[in-house]
Amino acid sequence: MTDTSEQDRVLIFDTTLRDGEQSPGATMTHDEKLEIAAMLDEMGVDIIEAGFPIASEGDFEAVRDIARQSRNSVICGLSRANPKDIDRAWEAVKHSARPRIHTFIGTSPLHRDITKLTQDEMAERIHETVTHARNLCDNVQWSPMDATRTEHDYLCRVVEIAIKAGATTINIPDTVGYTAPRESADLIRMLIEKVPGADEIVFATHCHNDLGMATANALAAVEAGARQIECTINGLGERAGNTALEEVVMALKVRHDIMPYDTGIDTTKIMGLSRKVAAVSGFPVQYNKAIVGKNAFAHESGIHQDGVLKNAETFEIMKPEDIGLSATNLVMGKHSGRAALRAKMKELGHDLADNQLNDVFVRFKALADRKKEVYDDDLLALMRDSAADEGHGRLQVKFLRVICGTEAPQSADLTLTIDGVDHQVTATGDGPVDATFNAVKALFPHGAHLKLYQVHAVTGGTDAQATVSVRMEEDGKIATGQSSDTDTVVASAKAYVNALNRLLVRREKGKPAEDRAAV
Ligand code: KIV
Ligand code: ZN
Repeated sequence: MTDTSEQDRVLIFDTTLRDGEQSPGATMTHDEKLEIAAMLDEMGVDIIEAGFPIASEGDFEAVRDIARQSRNSVICGLSRANPKDIDRAWEAVKHSARPRIHTFIGTSPLHRDITKLTQDEMAERIHETVTHARNLCDNVQWSPMDATRTEHDYLCRVVEIAIKAGATTINIPDTVGYTAPRESADLIRMLIEKVPGADEIVFATHCHNDLGMATANALAAVEAGARQIECTINGLGERAGNTALEEVVMALKVRHDIMPYDTGIDTTKIMGLSRKVAAVSGFPVQYNKAIVGKNAFAHESGIHQDGVLKNAETFEIMKPEDIGLSATNLVMGKHSGRAALRAKMKELGHDLADNQLNDVFVRFKALADRKKEVYDDDLLALMRDSAADEGHGRLQVKFLRVICGTEAPQSADLTLTIDGVDHQVTATGDGPVDATFNAVKALFPHGAHLKLYQVHAVTGGTDAQATVSVRMEEDGKIATGQSSDTDTVVASAKAYVNALNRLLVRREKGKPAEDRAAV
């Protein structure tokens, strides 16, 4: 790196589709991955880690198709430290105009125990595998997994070997979210100072959030010289997740005075991506999440509202528009027409084709009949349901009536369309939702277990829609379904059926989405 502007440029490496998707239950379909990748590409993400091609046929196809479609971003595929993994990653990413192979091995004493490799044997393996990757691709990233718990002298030794073997980016993962900001900075500084050839490559930081320090650790690493941040939308990822893209990007933008580094991210795309990833992964964003939480720009208290009305800067350090939140939450009602809906959806990040617009419009009219005011979040929920129902799964909820009250048991009268044929049953249960799920099971017996049942209100008011997320597991495969309705039990039935449909697709295709090679 030579000129100043290049030195101040921080590359954004998004791993929502790899590390994020590894989060149990966050599995995404092929089309969903392609859609998210297209949005990341448009947003200006420098590198998209699109998946782990050896993990399954589905992962391979997703990385390959993302490589084919992406216009600007480098497309990266993950591989363990063996030639078969690396070849598979290359087969997938080589379709990109700008491919990258990312290969890793756990270097800490704990990981060396697992792989039963001595320090010397592991060093040899690193030399061989990075050389192999570099012979296939001129853009190679290498990661010593659990770097923050690896002995410093050994870490310097293996980083030097990887650089000599041709790695162009060295990523330093804090795999278990153990480090703290000062230590994160010291580690990068130490590597830059001690390792020969360090000035020829880019150092990356990859932080997990187990102690809630992922963003701080990533920014500290940048101040010490790292020039690539690995992150995910909404901080999605295993356990407590990864560094959140929106947090590091906005921190660098808002506090440019003390952190003078630039990214290539169009921040107005942040909200659209956050909503998309939340919908697709089934992991809702916590209300008080920095940048993208529902309350991040809400000023409820009298003092705050008064201050913000007089001068937004009193309590706002960034503008809602900066992250793509419309300044006004234009309310739609039952008299709003198709053109207004199209314009509103566009503003919310969805450019609808005519057939999609028709479907969402029908849903919107039905909702507007039941609900006085339809807000942005209602429309996004409708959009999500429309996308989830697209291609119609084998099972569809046709009719549901529940009888509930203070006396148990509650009962559900359900008509389910299974492969085009209607079936009816009445089932009882401990509460209306339990009765409804029992009714589905009576009509369509299955061995899937309910792993998560979650309800949240889309907007305020007693006529608000409820969004229900249901996660099911069968033989190690996990699928999440979501649905929204002003009736919580109807939303529950549809979300449950939606999750079952997704599991059935996986069962039929024999694609074990969660049955991945262990990272
Ligand atoms: O957290 C980690 O160590 C990883 C590696 C595969 C880079 O995700
Ligand atoms: Zn990770």
